[in-house]
Amino acid sequence: MIDSLNISVKKTAASRIGQLDFANIPFGKIYADHLFSAEYVDGEWKDPQITPYEDLRISPASPALHYGISIFEGLKAYKNDKGEVLVFRPGKNFDRMNISAERMCMPLIPESLYFEGLNALLDLDRDWVPSAQGTSLYIRPFLFSNDDYIGIRPSQDFKFMIITCPVGAYYAKPVKVKIETHYTRAIEGGSGYCKTGCNYGPAIYPAKLAQEKGYDQLLWTDGKEHKYIEESGTMNVMFVIDGKLITPSLEDSILNGITRDSVLTLAKDWCMEVEERRIEIKELISAIQDKKVQEVFGAGTAATIAQIERIGYDGVDYELPAVETREFSQKVLKTLDAIKYGHMEDKFNWIHTV
Ligand code: COI
Repeated sequence: MIDSLNISVKKTAASRIGQLDFANIPFGKIYADHLFSAEYVDGEWKDPQITPYEDLRISPASPALHYGISIFEGLKAYKNDKGEVLVFRPGKNFDRMNISAERMCMPLIPESLYFEGLNALLDLDRDWVPSAQGTSLYIRPFLFSNDDYIGIRPSQDFKFMIITCPVGAYYAKPVKVKIETHYTRAIEGGSGYCKTGCNYGPAIYPAKLAQEKGYDQLLWTDGKEHKYIEESGTMNVMFVIDGKLITPSLEDSILNGITRDSVLTLAKDWCMEVEERRIEIKELISAIQDKKVQEVFGAGTAATIAQIERIGYDGVDYELPAVETREFSQKVLKTLDAIKYGHMEDKFNWIHTV
C-alpha cells in the first residue's frame, strides 16, 4: 500500500486551454491538460503519475473491454471568488468507489492514492476550473482491469486514472421521463448500487427507445415486478408530495447518490418531513391525478438538481406543476450552489479545498 505518494509529473508541452470557450462549455467534450494514473501490479499499487491527457494503450484482451471490468465515479470542483478550487464531498465518492471495487473483484483504492492524486491533478490544472454559476470541473476517477487475459476470473492487474473536464449543464432544460416497465436496469442481488459500466451500457437502448418517443430519460422500476420507482438513468429521483420529500429507499438495485444524500440532509436540516421508502407507480400516478405532487426532480452529480416536467406511463403523459412553483427544489439548488461556490458557510463540512 502506498503511504505517501511520490507522484511523478510530466507536464504538457502545449496547453489546450485556449480551445475552451469558457462562455459556452459543453458537457464532457473537452478534457483538461493532464491526467493522473497509477498501476496495480503483483498485488501492489505503483507508479503514481501525472501525464498529459492522451489516448491509452491497452491490451486487446483486457477484461475491461470484454466483460466490463471497470468502475467509475463522478464528482465536481468549483472555483470560489478567491480563485480557490473547492471539491464537493470527494470522500463520499472515495467510499462509494471502493464499494464498487469490492463488488467487481477489484483492489481497494488507498485513500492516499485517491486524495493525493486528486489534489495534485487539480492543483496543476486549476486554470481549467471554470468559475461562472452553473459551470464546474467534472472529475472522473475510474479503475479498470489491465490484464492481458481473456478468461473469466477476477483480474489481477488494474489501472486507476483520474481525468477532468470543464462542464456546463447536463440538462439545459426540464426533462421528460418515461416510467419503464419492460426493460430492467438492475435487480436485487445485482450490481445496481455500483458505478460500473455494466449498469450504464445496457440502459442506453431502452433510453434510446424512449427518446424516440420524445422523452429525455427513463424512470427505472424494480426488475422483479416493475411496480416500484427506482431511479432515473442519470440521477436519483425525488418527489415532493403533500409537503413531504419522498425518495426511493436504497435497495441494492439503486445507486447511493451523493447529491441524493445532500438533498436529504438539507431537507432534514430545514425540518421538512422526509420519507425514504418504496414508491409504487400506482401511488405516484394517483397523487399526480389528485394534484398532491408538488415537485419531481432528479438529483445527481452531473445532472445536479434536474427538474422533471412530465412523466409518461402506460401511454399517458402526466404534466407536473410549473417549475417556477417548486419552492423546495429551487431552494435546494440555490443552497447547494452557494455551498459549492463558497458563498455560504459549509456547515456540513462538504467542501475539500485544493
Ligand atoms: C454522474 O452524475 O456523475 C454520473 O456518473 C452520471 C452520468 C450520467 C454522467
